[in-house]
Amino acid sequence: MKHLDTIGNLTTDEIEELIDSASSFKNGRYANYSTKHIALMFFENSTRTRFSFECAINRLGAHPYIFDISKSSNQKGETLKDTINNLCAIGINTFVIRTREENLIDELKQIEFYRPTHFINAGEGKSSHPTQALLDYFTILEKIKTVKNKKVVIVGDIRHSRVARSNIALLKKFGANITTSAPEYFMEEIEGTTFEPDLKKALIDADVVMALRIQNERLDEAISKEDFIKNYSLNMENFPQGALLMHPGPVNRDVEISSKLLDSKIGKTILNQAENGVYIRMAVIDKILQGQSR
Ligand code: CP
Repeated sequence: MKHLDTIGNLTTDEIEELIDSASSFKNGRYANYSTKHIALMFFENSTRTRFSFECAINRLGAHPYIFDISKSSNQKGETLKDTINNLCAIGINTFVIRTREENLIDELKQIEFYRPTHFINAGEGKSSHPTQALLDYFTILEKIKTVKNKKVVIVGDIRHSRVARSNIALLKKFGANITTSAPEYFMEEIEGTTFEPDLKKALIDADVVMALRIQNERLDEAISKEDFIKNYSLNMENFPQGALLMHPGPVNRDVEISSKLLDSKIGKTILNQAENGVYIRMAVIDKILQGQSR
């Protein structure tokens, strides 16, 4: 594996291998990549993804470098391509990138840099967040063993969500039945999913319920929070018994999920997701570093 750009570019065998690898890291497997140098370039805000990549790099014995855009020569007009080329020359050849731009990783993959480079997508525009989908899948498998023929309900801001798109791409590969539920302003039909606007109906017989963060930074116009909360907020009353509650974070408390549900035992899976993110990112980096010569 040279890069991780989208779930669509991974086979089911490759996904299963990454899950097994993450599991072995969780069980104490050790690696030492002390000659490897990895840059974290986050052009959008992040807590979970940035820290878990940094944590994963440190646990693998490699060296993380945080690219601070506000203090970089990007502010003097240097292009991203030139920045990466110079960092390559300095000795950093793996780049974890979060960006607002669609297809940036795909474009960077085509460029011949100073030395062979490797790119890992840490969240790109509205379209993809592959390590989030992998860590979500890892977490689901730990709890319910398989997604084949299981009902996964994805609730909320489908339209602006890269988490939804990557999760749907992955879950479809493994035979899940996916239902989306959203108000009209957040709705988007995605192939291979069933849309049910009535949340109560959507939640019937759900095995997994994924709430999505409202992507305020991507909204063209303000929405009525009250309307969303009334019809799409998950709470102790409407949450289906025995289902798994997931959310990629950060949670808008009492909007996507009520505080009471979030702080209950049911809400703990969301922290399991954050925990598993480190092991999935270790597995992805390990796989990419294995293929590098030095
Ligand atoms: N889930 C997720 O991507 O969270 P952050 O934006 O905090 O990285």
